[in-house]
Amino acid sequence: MSIEPVLDPHKLVKELDGRHLIDGELVPAKNGKNFDVLNPATGKVIAQAAEGDADDVDFAVSVAKKAQKDWANRPARERGKLVAECGRILTQHVEELGRLVALESGKALRTESRVEASVLADMFTFFGGLASELKGETIPFNPNMMTLTTREPVGVVGAIIPWNVPLLLMAIKVAPALVAGNTVVVKSAEDTPFTVLRVCQIMQQILPKGVLNILSGFGPGCGGPLVAHKDVKKVSFTGSVETGRTVYRAAAEKLIPVTLELGGKSPMIVMDDADLEKAIAGAIGGMRFTRQGQSCTASSRILVHESLHDEFVSRLLAKVNTLKMGDPLDEETDIGTIINRKQRDKVCGYIEIGEQEGATKNELSALPTDPALADGMFVRPVVFTNVKPDARIAREEIFGPVACVFRFKTFDEAIELANDSDFGLAATVWTKDLKTALTATKRLEAGFVQVNQNLVVQPNLSYGGVKLSGLGKEASLESMLEHFTHKKTIIMNME
Ligand code: NAI
Ligand code: MG
Repeated sequence: MSIEPVLDPHKLVKELDGRHLIDGELVPAKNGKNFDVLNPATGKVIAQAAEGDADDVDFAVSVAKKAQKDWANRPARERGKLVAECGRILTQHVEELGRLVALESGKALRTESRVEASVLADMFTFFGGLASELKGETIPFNPNMMTLTTREPVGVVGAIIPWNVPLLLMAIKVAPALVAGNTVVVKSAEDTPFTVLRVCQIMQQILPKGVLNILSGFGPGCGGPLVAHKDVKKVSFTGSVETGRTVYRAAAEKLIPVTLELGGKSPMIVMDDADLEKAIAGAIGGMRFTRQGQSCTASSRILVHESLHDEFVSRLLAKVNTLKMGDPLDEETDIGTIINRKQRDKVCGYIEIGEQEGATKNELSALPTDPALADGMFVRPVVFTNVKPDARIAREEIFGPVACVFRFKTFDEAIELANDSDFGLAATVWTKDLKTALTATKRLEAGFVQVNQNLVVQPNLSYGGVKLSGLGKEASLESMLEHFTHKKTIIMNME
């Protein structure tokens, strides 16, 4: 039976209310418990999600374990074709998924949510095509022996995802894991359970039962048991540094591999010869103001050469000020909401800290005036200037629409400032000079470095950080081979 797109997200969440997806079926939590999921633009409950616990984890993992043998026994290209086929049908659901993620996450449909939904489909198509790359090597070890390696799946993968880009972050874990012959249990983020559940439901038209399972629930109650489960052989996690450490410790007990994609405080260096127009657009895009700054790669430290600083700032402020904040589902809206009250309070707390630390606060755009949005989690974008490099707002991940602008005199000073961070996820440099660009890319301590642009995660480009930003890479062939297979060495004696 084919699943038709449902364009009314309010209707769709009612269909998904109170369910996990295990063994191809939408099922309630074993304990019968649910929790409320809110629309962050209105503060109203949209539906309830199943509150998974250790029993649900046990059920989902046992199903995934059972399904894994048959799945791994299929030819790699057959798995790849099925995953690519998922990409094809997900393309037909871009509008539906865009609206659904806008409703549950508060991200504006036109600038953020619809874009994310289309990248999701692309990731499945991309990884589906990589199936033939699950190759081994032959090794000239001994002329009397045939020595080779094969790539073997790890087994059941546990994937724990956050709420800021739930579709994309799920796709960059699930797609390579499946193509490599693993089966997967995903724990969705408590604020955004429905879109990933819907994706999984759509994919059930193509995938064998039990190959992909989705649980909703809280971190310690559902994510914890998933990481600790004896049959989960690999965990891929995206979220906060603190939870990343908890996951890493639990995985260490079982000695299983983990991939961790954690926070950031990414620098953007604007040299004195930069194209100002492009750099300003890059700062706004890189800072993800349209996503309320809720991005691990957000260019939240903007370092501008002193000769351009004042002009850069005034033009940046003017441009951010034109962004329209409002109902995430309204096509006119540029900026939606923060995910929930806790995150809004955290962000507002940092804005207060910034003022106390003596930075100059520039608050931009207007809050929406629609009374229906009066309880929404809207925060006005803030650009802090005159920020001291040791200020908390300059060092800690705020995960909100708050950028810090610094001025520098020399290239060396800029690089030093940029690298003076616990994080190392992304960095950009803006210059017309080739030597400056190349030197910067070499010296910047980050996993994802760009010159004169500020793109988001792309299929085929390894994505991941150094320092506290995490361990391992995602979104590329390397991520599939290194993180979702292990290499088996086979030595055959021919004598
Ligand atoms: P979090 O790291 O606590 O949550 C991320 C995921 O981990 C969620 O699915 C959550 O249920 C799960 N989780 C929480 N505790 C767990 C545990 N003990 N065992 C297993 N899974 C667990 O992030 P949270 O609380 O939503 O946001 C806090 C901060 O984290 C943000 O302000 C931001 O700085 C950062 N963050 C970074 C993200 C990134 O993309 N790198 C995404 C989301 C948040
Ligand atoms: Mg948390």
